[in-house]
Amino acid sequence: MGAGGACGCGISRRRMIGAAGAAGAAAVGLSACGNAEDGPAPQDAVMGTVIARTEDVPVGGGTVVIKGKLVVTQPEKGDYRAYSAVCPHAGCTIQEVEENIHCLCHGSEFDIATGEPLAGPATEPLDRFEVSVQGTDITLERALED
Ligand code: FES
Repeated sequence: MGAGGACGCGISRRRMIGAAGAAGAAAVGLSACGNAEDGPAPQDAVMGTVIARTEDVPVGGGTVVIKGKLVVTQPEKGDYRAYSAVCPHAGCTIQEVEENIHCLCHGSEFDIATGEPLAGPATEPLDRFEVSVQGTDITLERALED
């Protein structure tokens, strides 16, 4: 039995807005749960484009970028990293970044510096992407292989 169809999201709309910002809340509310293997990767649609601004990504934390389902982190000052926001456990969209990346569906946590799972049911890391920074623009460059 596949895990993608029953992610058990019990996330309140308020929590989603707080995690993702009001601009993307409507989109998140409709797509927090999903099967990670459905169709093309959402990151493909934003490849080569600016996905975030440096001022939106705190040092030692990160932010969820709804467009393209990405998480952008800054583990150390000036070191920006991007991961898929599609949780490898059952396909929920990652909703929160504090000192770790949190999937609130079943409680998985991921390292902001590596994307590796730290806690919860997820056993696989988040997919990683290369970014470039020019001024305050963070651009998604390409997917990184394991
Ligand atoms: S989908 Fe289950 S922890 Fe993320």
